Amino acid sequence: MCGITAYVGHQDALTFLLQGLEKLEYRGYDSAGVTILGDQKLSTVKTKGRLQDLITILKAQPLHGHVGIGHTRWATHGVPSNLNSHPHSNADETISIVHNGIIENYRELKDELMAHGYTFQSETDSEVVVQMLDYYYSDDLLAATRQTLARIEGSYALCILSTHEPDKIIVARKDSPLIIGEAQGAYVAASDIPALLEYTKNVYFLEDNELAVLKADSITFYNQQGQAIQKESVEIPYDLEAAQKDGYDTFMLKEIYEQPHAIAETLRGRIHENKVYLDELQNIDFNQYHQVYYVACGTAYHASLCGSQVLQKLTRLPVTAMVASEFRYNDPLIDEKTLAIFVSQSGETADTLAALRLAKSQGATTIAIANVLGSTISRDADYVLYTCAGPEIAVASTKAYTTQLVLLILLACYIADRLGFVLDAKLLEELPHISDHIAHLLEDHERFAKYAKLLEDQRDAYFIGRNLDYASVLEGALKLKEVSYVHADAYVAGELKHGPIALIEEGSVVIAVATQPQIASKTINNIQETIARGARVVLFTTAGQEVKNVANTYYLPEVPAVLQTILVAIPLQLIAYYTACIKGCDVDKPRNLAKSVTVE
Ligand code: M6R
Repeated sequence: MCGITAYVGHQDALTFLLQGLEKLEYRGYDSAGVTILGDQKLSTVKTKGRLQDLITILKAQPLHGHVGIGHTRWATHGVPSNLNSHPHSNADETISIVHNGIIENYRELKDELMAHGYTFQSETDSEVVVQMLDYYYSDDLLAATRQTLARIEGSYALCILSTHEPDKIIVARKDSPLIIGEAQGAYVAASDIPALLEYTKNVYFLEDNELAVLKADSITFYNQQGQAIQKESVEIPYDLEAAQKDGYDTFMLKEIYEQPHAIAETLRGRIHENKVYLDELQNIDFNQYHQVYYVACGTAYHASLCGSQVLQKLTRLPVTAMVASEFRYNDPLIDEKTLAIFVSQSGETADTLAALRLAKSQGATTIAIANVLGSTISRDADYVLYTCAGPEIAVASTKAYTTQLVLLILLACYIADRLGFVLDAKLLEELPHISDHIAHLLEDHERFAKYAKLLEDQRDAYFIGRNLDYASVLEGALKLKEVSYVHADAYVAGELKHGPIALIEEGSVVIAVATQPQIASKTINNIQETIARGARVVLFTTAGQEVKNVANTYYLPEVPAVLQTILVAIPLQLIAYYTACIKGCDVDKPRNLAKSVTVE
């Protein structure tokens, strides 16, 4: 999972490439590189480390030319190193490529090329692409590209340039994102829209197995069969400013504070006189389904866990939430009477995409809940609903999560209504005001910073909750570990006494969520068991619960129980954020992670 950029036009290519890579650094940041075609030769500069390291080298040794490609890497095959960094070139440096994805049959292709006398510089799967291009090239780069792609198994977004045909860049994609922009006197390409926005809002989405030949003044698209095809450009409705920090120290904090707005946007036009409108789904006959799956990864899975419980409660349909990487290998029971819902902020997560394709191939109706417009999952699903969170840059998902919760609650209400169930009017009356409650919670940030102080010297934290609160604590624990590196586990509160309580000792920090009225008092009792063993507890609950001996109790605003899942996310995100700050962590770019996980 990497970020790639490409430029062919009349200006210096390097300027576009570097600004684009900066926007894509969230996709990987263990090495970076560029190749520029100028004076009939390719010049490549690449280095292990952050993009800033590359920029420092390029300041001392600038590259000039009107055609170029760039890459920021998240290592999959081969350690982060200068040699494993992209771009990769052939031996006589006439062809250069950047690649995002995984070439699954690279070992076999490498053996074949080595038998033909090729030698390899790197340990990457990607290098076989450029060597194979070299092998097939006689006098037509497009033909060589086609022959190469026909041999490749796996996923790719590729940008290819060559001194043999210096006026063009060839781009291709399969199962990895690649967007092309039509700029002033140039065509540009990148893995994600923010990298293009400084140059253009007019973009083309390349479909799987399609190719495009970019020149300064023209673009030609080809389908898998090699026929030239026409494509319409799409205008992106948001601007670059939305993708920048806006005065906040970090993207994560900015995105936490954007939640009232993001949720209001997601709700826009969806509720009218206590009725939910999801017109995108109006052609579905929900009576045909006898089961529903929710499939997602990470934070999106936690939102799904919540959404699935709400749907089951409202409709009494059998509903299962599954982690996408398990779904495919679990022999799921899928047929034409299955509704499968796939939740993904990026819309590019490889496990979720593969699960979607499996469900589709076995006859399920598929709905995507995605945030990124035009992403692969959103295009592959039968139906799509967009969360309107805007670009989420921080690796730790915050506003995407709460907007997913909102949309999943709306979806559950919508399906229940379409099936003829009577809805809880209070829930739909209160949902449009949820942004105001979040704004008030954000004003209490100092309280949450104080709770974070409890974790200052801790290696571990324990999160407990029951029922819908369990989904919330799973997310709270994930947030804490990914940004602050404090090991955090989430437990169903009733399970504590079956083992985990053995870990509680003097000074342990327990974060408890008890907002669901039918079960809150039981969680609060479990807290007493940890206090008796020396734990320091932070409790999030609602007015009316009897709480004894818990100094750090925070009473959440009164809203219907289902909506507490949205509210409690805010303090849990802020606790994770402030803990990471206290510990001096790189909040937006946690180690070993990347924003968009396009490898299985
Ligand atoms: O883009 P997606 O929603 O499909 O991503 C799924 C997970 O990779 C993502 O939620 C991940 O767990 C985040 N780092 C959590 O903050």
